[in-house]
Amino acid sequence: MAQINPSILSADFARLADEAEAVRGSDWLHVDVMDNHFVPNLTLGVPVVESLARATDTPLDLHLMIEDPDRWAPQYVEAGAGSVTFHVEAAAAPVRLAREIRAKGARASMALKPGTPIEPYEDLLPELDMVLIMTVEPGFGGQAFLDIMLPKIRRTRELIAKHDLELWLQVDGGVAASTIERCAEAGADVFVAGSAVYGAEDPAEAVRKLRDLADKAAADAWWACGH
Ligand code: DX5
Ligand code: ZN
Repeated sequence: MAQINPSILSADFARLADEAEAVRGSDWLHVDVMDNHFVPNLTLGVPVVESLARATDTPLDLHLMIEDPDRWAPQYVEAGAGSVTFHVEAAAAPVRLAREIRAKGARASMALKPGTPIEPYEDLLPELDMVLIMTVEPGFGGQAFLDIMLPKIRRTRELIAKHDLELWLQVDGGVAASTIERCAEAGADVFVAGSAVYGAEDPAEAVRKLRDLADKAAADAWWACGH
């Protein structure tokens, strides 16, 4: 079944606990950490993640858009994250970092910006629990979905199948009712949605609708057959 991870980047930062409650029933809460260096925007850090982890039962899916994730990512596991995604463009030693995240007890995930190909990282996939294919340039919510990323999603799913891995494939950026089916057909099974969820009248209902669309689109997809 498809997993839908609402992104709190589109939520009200002054009411994070309520905003987490508003999407109860989601699989994860997606938390975008930005440092104003790796991306031209600044959001939140370890203390906010610690508080949010205490305030909600929904596991936290951290997306670190920061320089030097080798130094900072382990602290987000200690802060209570269930999954930590680092950008491979910023990591000095991705294998060592993935192993450290896992050893500390979280799922380890690697993100790729739109201009970064997946092929050079094929040998790294067994070290990971998830790959995040960005479908916008990271930094801001509410941007238009880049459908030229669909072939990369498909190629990533093919690599996962080729190596027979239990790897989740996440997409993030511009995911909405109008784009989620194409992502699911191409091979994504974890969907981040910010404005499509928090911009909706009823965020919990928006999550259910997105999950339904993704499940239906994946049902006949080559990559999900037999799953
Ligand atoms: C963008 C963030 C996304 C963002 C997505 O850099 O990584 O998680 O919240 O927002 P939408 O779904 O509005 O494109
Ligand atoms: Zn994100």
